[in-house]
Amino acid sequence: MARVLVTEKIADGGLDALRAAGHDVDVQTGLEPAQLLEAVPGAHALIIRSSTQVTAEVLEAGRDLVVVGRAGIGLDNVDVEAATRRGVMVVNAPQSNILSTAEHTMAMLLSVARHIPQAHAALADGRWERSKWVGVELADKTLGIVGLGRIGKLVAQRASAFGMRIVAHDPFVAPERARQLNIDLVDLDTLAATADFVTLHVVKTPETIGMIGEDFFDRARPGIRIVNVSRGGVIDEAALAAALEDGRCGGAALDVYAEEPPTDSPLLGLPGFVGTPHLGASTREAQDKAGDTIAEQVRLALAGEFVPFA
Ligand code: MLT
Repeated sequence: MARVLVTEKIADGGLDALRAAGHDVDVQTGLEPAQLLEAVPGAHALIIRSSTQVTAEVLEAGRDLVVVGRAGIGLDNVDVEAATRRGVMVVNAPQSNILSTAEHTMAMLLSVARHIPQAHAALADGRWERSKWVGVELADKTLGIVGLGRIGKLVAQRASAFGMRIVAHDPFVAPERARQLNIDLVDLDTLAATADFVTLHVVKTPETIGMIGEDFFDRARPGIRIVNVSRGGVIDEAALAAALEDGRCGGAALDVYAEEPPTDSPLLGLPGFVGTPHLGASTREAQDKAGDTIAEQVRLALAGEFVPFA
């Protein structure tokens, strides 16, 4: 029997499967970093989502760790290099929430096109503001997708069904593959200058941090609207706030932030800003899939069996 420390909300199905496999599932959510350092010794597996920071120090304290399971996609909160050095396997659930994230992106695109949260807030406040919240259609607009991976492609299909033209920037995708999807691959400057809406679907790396900043808004089509359901920090929030204030950006819908929760973000309170609290993967379906996948990966790793790429 192994001790599996779970530090964030994971769907019951996955945790029950680990219990059924005979493991001691120790759920301790909301730990401060110092509390995590106290909780991790003696754990053989650690299961997390995006909030728990698995630093080299945590891995050092978790001397018995065999595996870290990330119930979701992004691994930017895990020091994978340090884990590898210590022989700790890091597994994730890369397919689990791609549909939910793509659908949330569409909800954000529609919200930023039609001012739905602002209009709702006004109505709830007793104001009937029909002429104030005139929006734009998505049809015949150009959507710039930065990052044409699994989620970016799902967004492209859905946006095409709304009648949008799609351009994309992704140095890792072959132009022929993009053409098959009816998408023009362009550089970031061309995307900025052509797109009416832009949506980001990139991982957080030193190369992508701050990739959407002053320069981007200076080159962008005036009034460009932007959506980010990928990773916080990819957009320079101070630059975005300035662009929203002077009209270079016509609206921004963000699900992820440089700091989460974004208590000090300059975006909060700006009229063109729409925000959700990192909800891209928060559907019953995605959480069930992530929980089941990660539980199975962790079970295999603890049994010393081959862990296939999920
Ligand atoms: C992910 O990277 O998969 C998301 O951040 C999911 C989550 O909310 O954990």
